This record gives sequence, C-alpha cells and structure tokens, in this order.
Amino acid sequence: MRKALVAGNWKMHGRIEQNRVLVDALLTQLSGLPEADIDVVICPPQVYLAQIKTLLQGSAVALGSQDVSRFAADGAHTGDSSAAMLNDLGVRYVLIGHSERRHEQSETDEQVAAKIASALLSGLTPIVCVGESLEQRESGQVTDMISAQLKGALSSLQRAEAEKLVIAYEPVWAIGTGKTATSEQAQEVHAFIREYLSSAFDEDLSQSIRLLYGGSVNSTNAALLFEQVDIDGGLIGGASLKSDEFTAICRAAALSTING
Ligand code: PGA
Repeated sequence: MRKALVAGNWKMHGRIEQNRVLVDALLTQLSGLPEADIDVVICPPQVYLAQIKTLLQGSAVALGSQDVSRFAADGAHTGDSSAAMLNDLGVRYVLIGHSERRHEQSETDEQVAAKIASALLSGLTPIVCVGESLEQRESGQVTDMISAQLKGALSSLQRAEAEKLVIAYEPVWAIGTGKTATSEQAQEVHAFIREYLSSAFDEDLSQSIRLLYGGSVNSTNAALLFEQVDIDGGLIGGASLKSDEFTAICRAAALSTING
C-alpha cells in the first residue's frame, strides 16, 4: 500500500513574519494527523529554507525545495544551489520540472533529467512534475505529451533510482486557475503513468511509486481526487498558503490511506 503524500508549493510567496505565522498555525492544526498515514512536505522559496527548517524542528513535516541546480559538483554556477547544499540544510524533497520552470525558465527535459540525477546522488527525493497544456488536451495529445516528459525524465535511470521518485501530474491548464481536472480526468492520466512505469520498468515498481495530482486542489475537491485508485496525494499551490485549507487537504489524503 502506498502512503499518502501532500506537498505544499509556496511558489514565490512569503516573508519572514508571515512564514512564522503560517508554519505555527500549520503545525498546530496538523498535530492530530497520524504520521503513519501521511507524509507532509513544505516547499518554501529557497531563500527561506533555513528559516522553515528551524520552524519545523521536532515536527514530522519535511522540508522540500522548489528547484535544484542541474550541476552536482560545486563550481562556477552563479545563483544555483546544489542538491548537496540542499541536503546539508535538511531538505528531503525537491520539485523538478514544474511547468512554471519549464515555461518561464525554458527548462528542458534534458535539464530535468540532470536535476533528477543530481538530486538522487545527494539523497533527495525528486517530485517530478509532468502535465499537458490546454491546447495539447484539446488536440488529443495528452498521453503523447506525458510519455514524452516521462521518457525525458526517466530514460537514463536505473530501476533502483527510478523507484525513489515521486511523480506529480499537473495539467498546466489547472494550475492556479481554479479549474481543477475532474477526478476521472486525473485518474485516467495517473493510470496511464502507471502503465508507462510498468512497461519502462516493471509492475512492482509501477505499483510502488507515489503519484500526486496538482492543479487547483482545495479542501472541497481533495477527497474525491484522493479517492481515485492511482492518486496518492497532491501537490498544492495556492491552498498551501492557507493553514485551514492545507490541513483539510492533508486530512483528506490521510483518510484515503486509511480507506485503502
Ligand atoms: P495550484 O498550484 O494548487 O495553485 O493550482 C499547483 C502547483 O503549481 O503545484
């Protein structure tokens, strides 16, 4: 059985005082949730990772980064933070290939693959993001797009590396738009991702990897999404900045683990 995972992607939001208030509220509200049923991750902007690390001390909530350098070794890479540095700071998860980075920073499949390799080398768990645009959905290219992104991300990985990944399906048209995919649309793509994993590796690996859905998840639609057999949790943007919303989403995910 796969344990639910919910990751909050704060994107470029936060200030020192605001972060403290949010994390304090979150830790209080999340305290009743059984750790055995859910992993919770918070991904603040890199500049606040050290602050959030301190605030999370002693809690079961893990720290995640929104990005990592594609270069593994220290060197002349101005502005980059390596996976080894993130690990040194206590980061455990890293978002890789988020659609905002693919679009705004022109991140390629090759760079995504290099980032995955470098994260794995330093013991970080990559949360690899894939998803189609509205145009691709409307022209019937969803599975082509998802397989191309999965191929780009996974083709150079050994099985023992691939089994450490988390994959997030985030349809671009659903991110920050309030237009979530229906649970059927999301389940359909998640099932496709499992089939892909099964043929690229094997059925055991495909059944063991956690697949998250992301794109306008909130406390109202979370339960129905997480009830789907191939959806193991969520990657949450806007709603992760509100402690009540985020806690309700985590509760829905934990319940889905309990109910199988
Ligand atoms: P959203 O963002 O929940 O605000 O749609 C999700 C994400 O981009 O990870």
